[in-house]
Amino acid sequence: MDEPEVDNELIANKRVARLKNLLYLKQHSKDVINQILDLSDHYLNSNEQNEFGNLLKNQSIASLFFEPSTRTSASFQVAAKRLGAETIVIDENTSSATKGETVLDTIRNLEAMGVNAFVIRTGDINLFGPLIDEIGPHTHLISAGESSISHPTQGLLDLLTIRQEKRSFEDLKVVIMGDISHSRVARSLTEGLKIMGTGNITLVSPEEFKPDMTNFPNTQFKKDPSEGLRDADVIVTLRVQKERIESDENSLSLEEYSNEYQLSQDKLALSKSDAIVMHPGPMNRGIEISNEVADGEQSVILKQVENGVAVRMAVLSEILKQQNDK
Ligand code: CP
Repeated sequence: MDEPEVDNELIANKRVARLKNLLYLKQHSKDVINQILDLSDHYLNSNEQNEFGNLLKNQSIASLFFEPSTRTSASFQVAAKRLGAETIVIDENTSSATKGETVLDTIRNLEAMGVNAFVIRTGDINLFGPLIDEIGPHTHLISAGESSISHPTQGLLDLLTIRQEKRSFEDLKVVIMGDISHSRVARSLTEGLKIMGTGNITLVSPEEFKPDMTNFPNTQFKKDPSEGLRDADVIVTLRVQKERIESDENSLSLEEYSNEYQLSQDKLALSKSDAIVMHPGPMNRGIEISNEVADGEQSVILKQVENGVAVRMAVLSEILKQQNDK
């Protein structure tokens, strides 16, 4: 499939996007999202490895992850390095957070050292709201995942992958299947798809994982995977959060879940023949997705990971290039 066209002039000369912080996709317009996706494609399509190596020189970005991460944490670091920024990783287990220092005090101390962007993953839904009001005027907050509420850069890399594969969003049927009630990925992707104009977003899960549908307006819910998957263009499988199933004696077992909801080759055959299979990772192979499907021809899971670096480069450069322009 042809790559989407990239407007290099637009990217080189002006930025439509004016991002100060990135916490929730629903706060941003279709223009802003398109701008980030175009810029991500521009980074991906560049042949020059070092073309962007000075874009964010003299900028310092700190990562504060209060929940585990492999992809998001690593790709933000790779992205920052490719743009020439300095990166500081604060490990919550060895930092002064263990002595009771608040996140705000940590940020204020790092601001005093010249750090101007903070990439934060947190399980605390009351962190970002107060922080936004307290940080300095030239400090930027980027969510790397907030509880089950938001994962905006995952949403953007998912949108980029869908756009690359399907060209447009409007006429697609996108199925999100799995542990939706605990999923920040489902929330951000749904927000993004709605902004981009996708008409049919179908959530598929057992009753136990059905989310509060007020958080998913104008979205269908199907308990029956055969019904939900029929004619899908895009299938996003979500990690079953095993720790939650195992700690809830009323929950269905992993075996019951995988018997009914695992995306196997048979279930995939219910969707369109050119449907793509996505997963944000980490995968529970053999539970929510079979090995055959995860590694199969329709899988774009590693493409999502590759796109994750480009999207984070785009987000960091859109936010921090404004700092260089001051
Ligand atoms: N998709 C995702 O957020 O993966 P990590 O938890 O490894 O960052």
